[in-house]
Amino acid sequence: MDFPAIIADKKYGRALTDEQISAFAKGAADGSIPDYQLAALLMAIRLNGMDERETATLTMAMAQSGDMLHPDVGGVAVDKHSTGGVGDTTSLVLVPLCAACGAKIAKMSGRGLGHTGGTVDKMESIGMQTTLTEEEFLTQVQKIGCAIIGQSADLAPADKTLYALRDATATVDSLPLIAASIMSKKLAAGTDGIVLDVKVGSGAIMPTYEGSLELAKAMVDIGHRAGRNVTALLTGMNEPLGSHIGNRIEVKEAIDILRGECEGPLLIVSLKLGSYLLVAGKIAKTPEEGEKMLRQALKDGSGLEKLRELIRWQHGDESVCDHPEVLADAPIVTPLCLPEEGYIAHMNTTALGYASQALGAGRRQKTDVIDPRVGYIMHKRVGDYVTPETPLCTLYAKDEKTLEEARNMILGAITVSKEPCEKERLLYAAVTPEGVKELK
Ligand code: URA
Ligand code: CA
Repeated sequence: MDFPAIIADKKYGRALTDEQISAFAKGAADGSIPDYQLAALLMAIRLNGMDERETATLTMAMAQSGDMLHPDVGGVAVDKHSTGGVGDTTSLVLVPLCAACGAKIAKMSGRGLGHTGGTVDKMESIGMQTTLTEEEFLTQVQKIGCAIIGQSADLAPADKTLYALRDATATVDSLPLIAASIMSKKLAAGTDGIVLDVKVGSGAIMPTYEGSLELAKAMVDIGHRAGRNVTALLTGMNEPLGSHIGNRIEVKEAIDILRGECEGPLLIVSLKLGSYLLVAGKIAKTPEEGEKMLRQALKDGSGLEKLRELIRWQHGDESVCDHPEVLADAPIVTPLCLPEEGYIAHMNTTALGYASQALGAGRRQKTDVIDPRVGYIMHKRVGDYVTPETPLCTLYAKDEKTLEEARNMILGAITVSKEPCEKERLLYAAVTPEGVKELK
């Protein structure tokens, strides 16, 4: 294959053939194409885009660059995936709730990336093991209805190579590349039902609502072409979803919710995603019915018991379910107030994610080690009134240096107005192959 000719075709904005796209994915996976040629093509794709056929072909070729699993779990296997957010702990809330209702969730999760957190890091912060053999993974889903693991090396290896290159070449924010990256992993993981949480707002991977909607449509289209049942929900990320941002403290918030001790946006979005997951898994006929079942599992404590089981099976510390307060502990715990009085008009959620990274809850470089204890609890949301005496958030830090850095980043991320401001929207729309339906 003449790779410079492929780069040239995309440079001039021409659509690539299926053969050219397959050669690209294969070369990325087996290392036969040098990084500089892959990177040049990535930039050409970032600048000139791909049509639906090209994107679907790229996704399938990336999925087939490694193992293709066919999880046989004694029911319809389902998976849920988010495009990435801040305080986005929905998986730890909805996976146990859905499994308590009888769903079979074979979930593949990621690590924190850039300003976003990752479920794998949160699980490891309470000692859970996130690498299971294929057999252990499937047995666990069969026996307890859920398992959550990190991406194995043999799954979509083309994505591993391409993602690292995108990160280093400012080509992450490309719709076809994001869609192919996420969906290649989901198709290779093999579940029949997939619910995608596509974020909208200042902490989302796509900067506008229209961009998020296009991304959702592209991923639903890819899944549909591959014969999978995919629904994408568009949900708000104009402020952190949960109030807790970090690793152990995010686990704490999920447990507090499952213990019935707190409600709010994280629960609302988790129930909505979970209700669609129950429909995809053929447990509920409608999302409305699914949501009723989930609320029952929350009320009767079976969701919390399922989380305990999940933690135990993956060798974590299940006692945190009884004593979640131990998860909010760091060498320095201190409140932060805004210097002025007024209504919170806007939050730069990406910057708020980077503040958590600055505390040590995320990685600046791949080799950085996360501090599971650090992060912060945001006490206010957009529209709330603040004064210099009411804490905006409580910081959990390991030392003064990172504390100071995070403090400045958080203060710089909040805009205050003298006029009352509207609350941020949480739920926008559900996208299926049939079309777009507004969510209330
Ligand atoms: N998550 C992924 O797995 N890939 C992307 O490209 C973006 C978010
Ligand atoms: Ca294998």
